[in-house]
Amino acid sequence: MQQTDFLVIGSGIAGLTYALKVSQQCPDKKITIITKSREDETNTKYAQGGVAVVNDLENDSFEKHIEDTLIAGDGLCNEQIVKIVVTEGPERVNEIIEWGANFDKNPDGDFSLGREGGHSVFRVIHHKDITGKEIERALLDAIHRRPNIELITHCFVVDLITQHHLGYLVTKSTPDIECFGVYVLNLTTNNIEKILAKVTLLATGGNGQVYRSTTNPTIATGDGVAMVYRAKGRIENMEFIQFHPTALYQPGVNPSFLITEAVRGDGGILRNIHGEDFMHKYDPRLSLAPRDIVARAIDSEMKITGTEHVYLDCRHMDLEKFIHHFPNIYETCKAIGIDVTQQMIPVSPAAHYSCGGIKTNEWGLTSIRNLYACGECASTGLHGANRLASNSLLEAMVFAHRCFMDATSKIDLLEFKDNVPDWVATGTTAPKEMILITQSLKELKQIMSDYVGIVRTDVRLQRALRRLDILHEETEDLYEKTMVSPQLCELRNLITAGYLIVKGAAFRKESRGLHFNTDYPFKSELIQNIVL
Ligand code: FAD
Ligand code: SIN
Repeated sequence: MQQTDFLVIGSGIAGLTYALKVSQQCPDKKITIITKSREDETNTKYAQGGVAVVNDLENDSFEKHIEDTLIAGDGLCNEQIVKIVVTEGPERVNEIIEWGANFDKNPDGDFSLGREGGHSVFRVIHHKDITGKEIERALLDAIHRRPNIELITHCFVVDLITQHHLGYLVTKSTPDIECFGVYVLNLTTNNIEKILAKVTLLATGGNGQVYRSTTNPTIATGDGVAMVYRAKGRIENMEFIQFHPTALYQPGVNPSFLITEAVRGDGGILRNIHGEDFMHKYDPRLSLAPRDIVARAIDSEMKITGTEHVYLDCRHMDLEKFIHHFPNIYETCKAIGIDVTQQMIPVSPAAHYSCGGIKTNEWGLTSIRNLYACGECASTGLHGANRLASNSLLEAMVFAHRCFMDATSKIDLLEFKDNVPDWVATGTTAPKEMILITQSLKELKQIMSDYVGIVRTDVRLQRALRRLDILHEETEDLYEKTMVSPQLCELRNLITAGYLIVKGAAFRKESRGLHFNTDYPFKSELIQNIVL
């Protein structure tokens, strides 16, 4: 058993930023970061386009960034949160630069700014097309220099510890559900251990792996959301899954390689399989319309032409500039035989970002006491029905700071819980065959991709729900009887994430932002968040 003052689950931008700040402010306290894979294997590492932040005051302003975020969010953003993130953003970005993250500059010394869908101006700071890798590198370097932070890798958090584990009945209406720490599966020893904490932060990232085709790495299995749901905490707006319009089309490859929207910002043009430019049929902002619109336009074009992809045409773009801004994309395409100066890049939409998640207040606090959530697993109200491109790294930085402010102000009033029982594994046996898990995962991805994708209908959602019910029942049975493994836990968490997406979608009797149901093609007058 371990005890730590501040427990952080996740080593992406949200978890690392929070841990660094806490460590600087509280040098006498212990901070423990846990991550289930290698320390840098996160969604953060794969971020390409960059960070949307107001910087160029001649051409940009807070008002413009706020307006672009609200328009993309299609009427569902929390305006107060949007203002907070946009206006506090520049200070947070400066901090990350002070910690060592490098962003590209022009010869005149100003930031080189990219543009992405839904942005009215160039405002995205970036490091080539590997912004996330650079941020993750800088944060990990800074973390390794802090003596009071312990970073434990290959350690899988299975569940939050609450009153439920002390023998009390906990339901959705129980007031003051409290988090005392977590049970973890130590992947080195294969034992389940308990870690008690005064304050816990969930920074577990997204859930793209619930779909067959996703830009998210395999760690993105909705674990944080599923744990909070099991602990009877509040989850909201899970139906708003953002499909990125342009993932490289390579059937069977998981995750899909992203072709950043910044390529379209620099002049790349979408064309259908016949080579026709089609975006003018769908939106006057053409290829730089917000993501929900572009992804739906591509989906429609693929259905019209009966194909599985469209093209991104970069042949007319200046090669030297292309290689300078997008070296990773250039090399990745080249490695699979695509010369971007001669050939168009085959692309199709892929699940990319979860706009909803664990409901938090303006300080990142969840509905469970002493439990914060930050980054992609959280639903702060910033994104509404559709996230504006490159707003998520910014949101993670701003909310990591806010969680840090709130948590450090309370820490001295908190104590460790005693009498927390050890994990009970009696009666479980080693799994006889992995096929039960791998096949269910395949089925889940199939159900979600076929029935709960970019375009939805009531009948498809009902079908999905019935099939998920069966998967849920079979997986819970397996979980009761077999020894816990990361594969089984991830399957269980993904089924929960899928269920929450379908439930949210079924409750939302309208089409708004990323949720498009042909049975209700218009926006409802009732503006509501769906909380489960
Ligand atoms: P992550 O970085 O995903 O970190 C999650 C962490 O939680 C990992 O360490 C993981 O191992 C750990 N974890 C999860 N479950 C458990 C568990 N059960 N036990 C222990 N550890 C666990 N956003 C932008 O703003 N700009 C961009 O340019 C951009 N480009 C993107 C490109 C790609 C290809 C992708 C996939 C996303 C992109 N995004 C971008 C989105 C953005 O990168 C993510 O939303 C953001 O990085 C999420 O950060 P995070 O800290 O919340 O989670
Ligand atoms: C991209 O670079 O296109 C992704 C940006 C994002 O997801 O915010």
